[in-house]
Amino acid sequence: MTTPNYRQLIKKDKLPRHIAIIMDGNGRWAKRRFMPRTFGHRAGMSSLKQTVKTCAELGISYLTVFAFSTENWKRPQDEISYLMGLLVEYIDKEIDELHQNHIHLQVLGDYRSLPVDSVQAIDLALQKTAANQGMVFNIAINYGARDEIIKAVQHLGALIKQGQLEPEDIDEYCFSQALYTKGLPDPDLLIRTAGEIRVSNFLLWQIAYTELWFSSLMWPEFNQEELLKAIWEFQQRDRRFGGLTQQK
Ligand code: IPE
Ligand code: IPE
Ligand code: MG
Repeated sequence: MTTPNYRQLIKKDKLPRHIAIIMDGNGRWAKRRFMPRTFGHRAGMSSLKQTVKTCAELGISYLTVFAFSTENWKRPQDEISYLMGLLVEYIDKEIDELHQNHIHLQVLGDYRSLPVDSVQAIDLALQKTAANQGMVFNIAINYGARDEIIKAVQHLGALIKQGQLEPEDIDEYCFSQALYTKGLPDPDLLIRTAGEIRVSNFLLWQIAYTELWFSSLMWPEFNQEELLKAIWEFQQRDRRFGGLTQQK
């Protein structure tokens, strides 16, 4: 059986506006090769580069990837240090090319609590692409959806205390503007790799009506073909948002 040519099948006028990805399975990929988990994290960077490139070429407006969660601090210290170093290395190495491609890089999450040199490197990169009008590329670092929601509640609570906000003025829009994802549309498609069927504290508020798609490939194996397949399958779904399918 030949595999369908998803690139040809994808409808250019029905692309997901915002794709979110939980990049999972680096450790297992490495373990299967009798290599340390860190080897898997490095291999995962190639998948990330290719995914960013493909999304930008296709004309996806927003791409958001989960790189390090608030729960990932539970891991051994050497793995955490390696991951942080790798993320800063990725940003340092890729920033010029991202900039040339008009990509606007953003970080979601409490990255300011990272080591000071990491924060400086991230801030420099963010400044460089801040005015770019191309694809918005969000990397979630030290991100947790519950943490994000608690911080939003604290922020709105402080505004109320200062007399700048009335509790009854808090609506869905107001609340969404207090999240890290302020100004971003909700994801249309959420992809998770490595066969895990869970959301692991990613974008809980934002994925209320997102289409979920799970891949059995480990993140270092994720490739253009799999991404195109996810997009094509997304296009076959009937998104009703609680309403009814439009009668043809
Ligand atoms: C994803 O791969 C990267 C991060 C969570 C930082 P994992 O490190 O979770 O790999 P597995 O799931 O243990 O295989
Ligand atoms: C989710 O993966 C977080 C990231 C991809 C950064 P995890 O590997 O941390 O998730 P669990 O522990 O399997 O739920
Ligand atoms: Mg994992």
